[in-house]
Amino acid sequence: MRQGFDFAGRTVLLTGATRGIGRALVDALGQRGATVLAVARDQGSVAKLVETSATVVDGLAVDLSDRDASAAIADWVGANHADTSVLINNAAVMSHGRLTDGSKEWRISISNEIDVNLIAPLVLSAELLPTLSRHPSAAIINVTSGLAIAPRRDAAVYCATKAGLRSFTRALRDQCREADLSIQVTEIVMTLVDTELTAPITIRKYPADRAAEDLLRGVERGLEEVWIEKAKALRVVHRLAPGLAYHAMRAR
Ligand SMILES: NC(=O)c1ccc[n+]([C@@H]2O[C@H](COP(=O)([O-])OP(=O)(O)OC[C@H]3O[C@@H](n4cnc5c(N)ncnc54)[C@H](OP(=O)(O)O)[C@@H]3O)[C@@H](O)[C@H]2O)c1
Repeated sequence: MRQGFDFAGRTVLLTGATRGIGRALVDALGQRGATVLAVARDQGSVAKLVETSATVVDGLAVDLSDRDASAAIADWVGANHADTSVLINNAAVMSHGRLTDGSKEWRISISNEIDVNLIAPLVLSAELLPTLSRHPSAAIINVTSGLAIAPRRDAAVYCATKAGLRSFTRALRDQCREADLSIQVTEIVMTLVDTELTAPITIRKYPADRAAEDLLRGVERGLEEVWIEKAKALRVVHRLAPGLAYHAMRAR
């Protein structure tokens, strides 16, 4: 039987807490009686969040594109916040462009996107398993995208990282079950949301506060996958007619 999840009293490690969906999650978690450890890159934004939000009890400014960042976060959590029982891998970057346009800028952007969107959540999940598994119940929540199911042609690397995170999340869930760990491992298949990440995209977008609320409600229901707003329709279309789903998403 599916078990629900209660955020009240939890300490939640949240990456990408300073803007967009992460910032909305801070408020939604606070309303549930959770406290947040905020991680983002910009030191000033992290400090301001700690100062201004009663929900955020501590913060760490690290660049997740640095391969040592996840170990540093885990050490910080182990030393100062061993009560952490939820990890939300939310931070990500998205670059737009065509590998076919002759520019060599992709040399930097490919590894940056892979490091932030894929390597960091994978390593952070592995690093935090010992801390999380000490609790009677815990959760790892990985934010992917409808673009993990059907890619946009001008965000090829981003889509590949999200597809990779989707696959990892499924296998990690199986590993936790096999090891009899009480860790709920949930994938959030996010819809298009109105944040800085999607500033270049001008079509209608879902508000960040509603996306955050839907995300937490799905986890509270004990779901393994939470499909947010229009991602629900994508799921159905992709099942029935994958070609149609690819066509709809490739040039959004
Ligand atoms: N918005 C959408 O339509 C949409 C759709 C599908 C999936 N998603 C997913 O939802 C999640 C949140 O996206 P969002 O739209 O809220 O993004 P956002 O508004 O751009 O915010 C990104 C957050 O991640 C942090 N971050 C970025 N690069 C970092 C780095 N190298 N090291 C540490 N922190 C870093 C940022 O902090 P700094 O400012 O300090 O860099 C910021 O707090 C992502 O996983 C994204 O892929 C979003």
